[in-house]
Amino acid sequence: MSTIKTQRRNLTKSRAHYQEAVKHLPLGVSSNFRYWGDEETIFVKRGKGARLWDLDGNEYIDYRLGYGPAILGHCHDEVDAAAREAQSVGTVFALGTEKEVTVAKLIKDMMPAAELVRFSNSGTEAVMAALRLARGYTGKDNYVTFEGSYHGLFDAAMWTADPDSMKDQSKDPVLVSYGQGIPKLVRQLFWQVPYNDASRLEDVLKRHSDSIAAVLIEPILGNCCGIPSKPEFIKAVRELCTKYGVLMIVDEVKTGFRVGRGGAQAMYGIEADIFTVAKAVANGYPIAAIGGKEEIMRKYGKGVAHGGTYTAQAMSLAAAEKTLTILKETDALDRIAAYGKAMQEGMHKVLSKRGIPHSFTGHYSMSGLFFSATAPTTYRNWKLSDYTFYDTMAGYLIDMGVMCEPDSREPWFISGAHDAACLSETLSKFEEAVDLTLDELSGGDHEGDDSKLMPGISG
Ligand SMILES: Cc1ncc(COP(=O)(O)O)c(C=O)c1O
Repeated sequence: MSTIKTQRRNLTKSRAHYQEAVKHLPLGVSSNFRYWGDEETIFVKRGKGARLWDLDGNEYIDYRLGYGPAILGHCHDEVDAAAREAQSVGTVFALGTEKEVTVAKLIKDMMPAAELVRFSNSGTEAVMAALRLARGYTGKDNYVTFEGSYHGLFDAAMWTADPDSMKDQSKDPVLVSYGQGIPKLVRQLFWQVPYNDASRLEDVLKRHSDSIAAVLIEPILGNCCGIPSKPEFIKAVRELCTKYGVLMIVDEVKTGFRVGRGGAQAMYGIEADIFTVAKAVANGYPIAAIGGKEEIMRKYGKGVAHGGTYTAQAMSLAAAEKTLTILKETDALDRIAAYGKAMQEGMHKVLSKRGIPHSFTGHYSMSGLFFSATAPTTYRNWKLSDYTFYDTMAGYLIDMGVMCEPDSREPWFISGAHDAACLSETLSKFEEAVDLTLDELSGGDHEGDDSKLMPGISG
């Protein structure tokens, strides 16, 4: 059942559109995650800066940003002008253009591990290409992923821990595929180990490194509350990969050009063998990139296949050039982080005043809010926690026009367009939503002991 409230908004047009859309598109949308319920699913009329408007004219401050891409805000004038100008070049030619080199150079300047670059269209495609490259280069088929990570919708990455099997914490969870259509055979190709636990990774590498091509890691779990790698953990992953002759693929699809100019790799002081970036690269235009060490990357074209009709499409490249130049040359990322910090401080004040245990995870530009004094460090922590408070509160916030993700796993994303007006509006609505949540969860009487409503993590 959806926790999203629909008391304050008129959703007449979105609801009517849903009834029409569902006749033509499964669930009425183009991604399963965009369906929020027959009555709750909304459709966007337009976005500008940090705000978006639905078909009924309801206005929202957007903290989802399309799951991260709109790093400079929706409809950014300069980025869009660059993309429009590129239309005069033509879209795709099945031939290279000059701009590929311009954008590759920008990525190389900003991310030291990028000795060479190749473009893809989406995060999923880039990670698939990175994994294939690792396999081609090493001549090995298997790989390791971490619990709670997300690397896109392709068979090799669509496996997660079965929540029921997590209850007995003395045992590793059973892995299940994300739904049907994923061959069971794929399960034989990988190991999944707990996040932030280098010794468990070493156990696997020690025994199986002769068949393992790569360790695939998100430096911050961008789809699990923004749980960050502990610095000593990600450094250990780097060292273990080198020690056991396994490539380290750092999936920076969410963190790249968001948590800093050099992504999470610069923040942690590590370099991947291969990495992927996507979302923030072009402020929402579809483009992704694979970067990595020259010797590995040169395997593309020398045994390892890579390509695609739309790779390095002109408008996306032009948007990437403009977006990356702005991120590189202005203080946009500092302002984004400062906004995220101020928002956390404001939320902290509201929650502390009410005695509500809480913690924040991730980076200021993509952070998770967790209703326990102890922040989660693994997927198991999050999964075994009670996230009722978050889910209920998010339902109120969306109804008030603060578009956070209804699922507590997704971080709050900040853009360069979030300003002081967004901040004060968000914080006052946050305060109201917290009180409404306390009321709802206490059956209308929250004067008593608030801490009873906050069971906190059990694992
Ligand atoms: C870390 C990570 N990798 C890969 C992907 C897949 O990217 P896309 O949705 O562009 O295919 C995502 C998407 O959220 C992601 O967060």
